[in-house]
Amino acid sequence: MSLPKHNSSKQLWRNLVDTPAVLVDLNVVERNIARCQKRCEQLGFTVRPHIKTHKIPLLAQAQLDAGAMGITCQKLGEAEVMVEAGIDDILISYNIIGAAKLARLKALTEKARIIVCADSGYVVAGLSHAFADAKKPLEVMVECDTGMNRCGVTTAAEAANLAQEIFRAPGLTFSGLMTYPAADQGNEAITWLGQAKEACQKAGLDVPVISSGGTPDLFKLTANDIITEYRPGSYIYNDRSLVSSGAVTEDDCALSVLTTVVSRPTKDRAAIDAGSKSLTSDTFGHADFGTVLGHPNIQLASLSEEHGHLKSKSTAGLGQIKVGDTLRILPNHACVVSNLFDHITFVRGDYFVKHQTVAARGAVK
Ligand SMILES: Cc1ncc(COP(=O)(O)O)c(C=O)c1O
Repeated sequence: MSLPKHNSSKQLWRNLVDTPAVLVDLNVVERNIARCQKRCEQLGFTVRPHIKTHKIPLLAQAQLDAGAMGITCQKLGEAEVMVEAGIDDILISYNIIGAAKLARLKALTEKARIIVCADSGYVVAGLSHAFADAKKPLEVMVECDTGMNRCGVTTAAEAANLAQEIFRAPGLTFSGLMTYPAADQGNEAITWLGQAKEACQKAGLDVPVISSGGTPDLFKLTANDIITEYRPGSYIYNDRSLVSSGAVTEDDCALSVLTTVVSRPTKDRAAIDAGSKSLTSDTFGHADFGTVLGHPNIQLASLSEEHGHLKSKSTAGLGQIKVGDTLRILPNHACVVSNLFDHITFVRGDYFVKHQTVAARGAVK
């Protein structure tokens, strides 16, 4: 794997990082990539990791070096950053709409293999209009809603109809089915996708790729001959929501937010310098905003923009915590934290590796 090591002078990150800061432990990242790649290989899936979690070409390259056959991006802007960094096989798992984006998409397909998704005739018509005169047809997958209630056609028959529409559309080629199942519904999605595959085949279409995704379900999935490709995203960092779901342990979490205690107004309260602008206010089903690592009695009870508010979970109070102390917070949802910082810090255990630009941060168009 191509990830940097700490340098021979073995500097401690504690002496080099100002807060609030995102720390990412590359030892854990490497373990997570290897574990997930192996699991997908055991299940017979090719791996197309979703880079929305990290937004960093260097980490995408590490995923490819470990055996991934390409990457997934959610937004065209993320894909542009990844292509610029030399990555040449990308699925954009999103409906691309409007002349401005279609022109950017077309320019991108001249530099790399780009596959996109569609869940309506409207999206297909826009793609076809833009690509009718393209040198090579655009690969388009049908997005299927197997229970997430986000985007996607909602029945197998609709999937087959849209697949035929793509097949017939000038400038496009039908390249398969894509779903992002709701958590805990990965196995149910297999039945849905099997029916959609059969409906497509009855209509005379090949279904070269059936792509599913999601970290929490990867280790619960049963072996099957429907899914061909898997798109895990959060697994590279993991986060509190995945710990709470039982999918991983705190030791599997690579990303934490380092913060300083800036105020200790009463025995029961403290304020830290990480608020919603550093942690996001995403609770992801929790009652509070992250785990204060190593302090099971302390709750990150609420956030204002630049302050996090710590409270004691018991009558014991906050104990010895004092102004100037640093704490590490395991955020509820790592992917959104990645979008908040221009730079993060790579570490290996206690050692500093490098400050790292988050190249696709803010690439939401
Ligand atoms: C379309 C799609 N595929 C894959 C993923 C990765 O899921 P996870 O982060 O659970 O691994 C996501 C995450 O939001 C997604 O939206």
